[in-house]
Amino acid sequence: MLIRAFFMIGHSEEYEKMARLEGQLWWYRSLHKRVETAIRRQFGDRKAIKILDAGCGTGGMLAYLRKKGYTDLRGIDGSADAIAFCQQRNLPVTSLNLNDLAYFEPYTQYDAIICNDVFCYFTDADLLPFIRALQQRLKPAGILVSNNNAFNAFEGQHDIAVGVIRRFVLSDFAGMMPKMGMRIIDSTYWSFTLSIPILLMRQWQRLQLAMGWRTVEEAQSDVYLPAPWLNETLYWITEMEQKLFRRTPFGSSLFIIAVTDPAAR
Ligand SMILES: C[S@@+](CC[C@H](N)C(=O)[O-])C[C@H]1O[C@@H](n2cnc3c(N)ncnc32)[C@H](O)[C@@H]1O
Repeated sequence: MLIRAFFMIGHSEEYEKMARLEGQLWWYRSLHKRVETAIRRQFGDRKAIKILDAGCGTGGMLAYLRKKGYTDLRGIDGSADAIAFCQQRNLPVTSLNLNDLAYFEPYTQYDAIICNDVFCYFTDADLLPFIRALQQRLKPAGILVSNNNAFNAFEGQHDIAVGVIRRFVLSDFAGMMPKMGMRIIDSTYWSFTLSIPILLMRQWQRLQLAMGWRTVEEAQSDVYLPAPWLNETLYWITEMEQKLFRRTPFGSSLFIIAVTDPAAR
């Protein structure tokens, strides 16, 4: 496992990049569409459903859903930088440590909770109570939609730059969710089509770090905009993959949808 340089919160430059690029970068665009598709599959054309983005970052997901007509949106994040960017976009957000989610408006329940690339900051000891807290905030037919870093083989300098402490495989969640009264109803690794080039790139980054050709302090996240033609091509590939295949078996991210299911416990 690579040495962790720092936790993301407090590193303003990563939030600045996220805020500037999440509307354009192929990876975010693809993820936002994937989340909206999951919500639409569950709730049809209902736009007034209550949606919470737990660990909303600089608000790209919420802004996308607002553009798609969703009206009852809420975000939470523990970073002052993230909250400031969300407020600039007039998004309804609250600054809160997600470990304290149980104390946040305890009587409000949501139709959908989004939690993208946040579980990777939680140790096992914190993750189980956090998932339980999410489950308790879902309405009976509510869904948890969550994207996560997958497979240790994809670990690279991005993980260091954004302070990721772990990656997941489906069996991690398949084991955890029932204990927390939740059941996974859909899941896929993505992007399958791009997994080989991404894997090679990450392995090259690891070699650079291992050989001392690049220092941990120089590690950069993958949040940068490639040439427009490449950005559009990568978006198109992930878009096609999403349209053609509901599930793919490998990729650097794991996307899951879970529902509350007391019988699963
Ligand atoms: C990798 S970013 C993902 C942001 C957003 N969900 C997205 O998909 O763009 C992780 C976010 O989780 C937030 N975060 C991580 N741990 C947190 C905690 N314990 N409490 C509140 N926010 C947290 C960070 O501030 C950051 O904005």
